[in-house]
Amino acid sequence: MTADQLRDKYLRFFESKGHAVISGASLIPENDPTVLFTTAGMHPLVPYLLGEPHPAGRRLTDVQKCVRTGDIEAVGDASHLTFFEMLGNWSLGDYFKREAIEWSYEFLTSKDCLGFDPSRISVTVFAGDDGVPRDEESIAIWRGLGIPPERIHALPREDNWWGPAGQTGPCGPDTEMFIDTLKPACGTDCRPGCHCGKYLEIWNDVFMQYNKTADGRYEPLRQVNVDTGMGVERTISMLQERPSVFETELFAPLMAAIDSLAGPPVAAEVACRARRIVADHLRTATFILGDPRGGVKPGNLGANYVLRRLIRRAVRYAKLLGIGSGFARVLAEVVIDNYRHVYPELEEKRAFILAELVAEEERFEKTLSAGQREFDKVAAALRQHGQTQLSGRTAFKLYDTYGFPLEMTEELAAEQGLAVDRAGYEAAFSKHQELSRQNDATFKGGLADHGEATTRLHTATHLLQKALQIVLGDHVQQKGSNITPERLRFDFTHGEKMTPGQLAEVERIVNEQIQRNLPVTMETMTIEEARAGGAMALFTAKYGEQVKVYSAGDFSKEVCGGPHAASTGELGRFRIQKEESSSAGVRRIKAVLESRALGTPSC
Ligand code: SER
Repeated sequence: MTADQLRDKYLRFFESKGHAVISGASLIPENDPTVLFTTAGMHPLVPYLLGEPHPAGRRLTDVQKCVRTGDIEAVGDASHLTFFEMLGNWSLGDYFKREAIEWSYEFLTSKDCLGFDPSRISVTVFAGDDGVPRDEESIAIWRGLGIPPERIHALPREDNWWGPAGQTGPCGPDTEMFIDTLKPACGTDCRPGCHCGKYLEIWNDVFMQYNKTADGRYEPLRQVNVDTGMGVERTISMLQERPSVFETELFAPLMAAIDSLAGPPVAAEVACRARRIVADHLRTATFILGDPRGGVKPGNLGANYVLRRLIRRAVRYAKLLGIGSGFARVLAEVVIDNYRHVYPELEEKRAFILAELVAEEERFEKTLSAGQREFDKVAAALRQHGQTQLSGRTAFKLYDTYGFPLEMTEELAAEQGLAVDRAGYEAAFSKHQELSRQNDATFKGGLADHGEATTRLHTATHLLQKALQIVLGDHVQQKGSNITPERLRFDFTHGEKMTPGQLAEVERIVNEQIQRNLPVTMETMTIEEARAGGAMALFTAKYGEQVKVYSAGDFSKEVCGGPHAASTGELGRFRIQKEESSSAGVRRIKAVLESRALGTPSC
């Protein structure tokens, strides 16, 4: 059975049981600040689980795209994925345990449906704890269907409780169904839920009876609901008896493309894991970028950061396979071609997806080798001194200067038998934010918002100041800066109105630096060292105080709290809107960055 047939069979089956087929929601949750991505089918349905009437009725069925990166380290085994499709059937205050379990069993075992041998099915139920009793009702229903007691396992909350999706919301006990792969057991206590891979979870029926409140209490919901979830990728890999999800038609073309790009063979275990990671992460990145709701691009915060981390991790593992630059775009094309008949949004957003992947891969390439050299240097020094821990400061520098996600540094460190001081990293991170805030205050109003638009404009301000000094002379000094997500405003000392020729020249110089795509790097040093090194220092720091110096390639060097774009190529086109007097001897420029031309990837 193919994935296309499975989706169709599932929806038709539940339609025949009175469910309305609804479309899956966006991967980027709407109006839900508690989660970065849709991690389960329940997200878009939370208001209805809480009692609001759904326009399609009380029985629904759907296929929901999900992203879960909590288990990212596990990707590389036979079944873990950061993106997957989940089939679901829903009761909103309608049927409950009996129907849910009986229909699950029918769909799993009926010859017209999945046709699994009933003797290969085992299940788990909630064992109960304070306040919530053991789920005797589900046990009785499973027994009634012929599942013998030795294949019904009662497990604690960490195994058999689902939700809420964020911090608060609907949740409840669940019953999970497993297919025995018939591999030998890993030990005497091997059972469903064991991670050895003998039992593969195929479906989860959640009985949402509780609402978790902000103060951590579980209060009964106004209505009891059913939320079930069956992963498409895992299910077809079991139906097709493939050793892993990566051998199904959902991945086969992608794996073939990876293999055709790979260099000379590397050790089998390394290759096996690396190619799966590359495939998984780029598939997920393609779906995130291709989401119809949009709004997520590689960046340093929230969902943008998750996306960046996925792409950068894929780049790193691709290198292990000897895959050269420019591969992300090639693989994304394969993903789009393989899925566009199911998710037409991927085709609609093809140009955007490819352009973003090209840009992020290039940005990362720029800093990767410099960062890797820095890492190797530090790791060698630590080993020489018999130390086993990489400092938080170094991890932060790798993040801030070279764009290494912390998790990536941790992985690199682990490969060398080193740990990373996470607490030290967090401390360095907070200190950096504090420094940025202080600096913003110095800029009177400063960067009110650390969004990406303001970050890019901030970097543009550095280029502008340097360009003004080149065109007008060294007397140009910053008098004030104010940045909103729309524009920058820069006040500087200069005695007269600038001529159109001077303005055009300043614009040209800034755009030239953007075209050169200079890396923006940061170093920490004392204010004296900064001044001695030729950095522009705009605010008064105490003697000996540590400051951050940001450089845009060889073009500009400035004491500043950040944050900045990773490279000037991210900025787009710089345009001066206005030049006017601000006060005696001080001029004011307002300028904008126009979005980059998209869809012109270099082949
Ligand atoms: N919400 C449950 C899960 O994700 C069932 O859909 O497993």
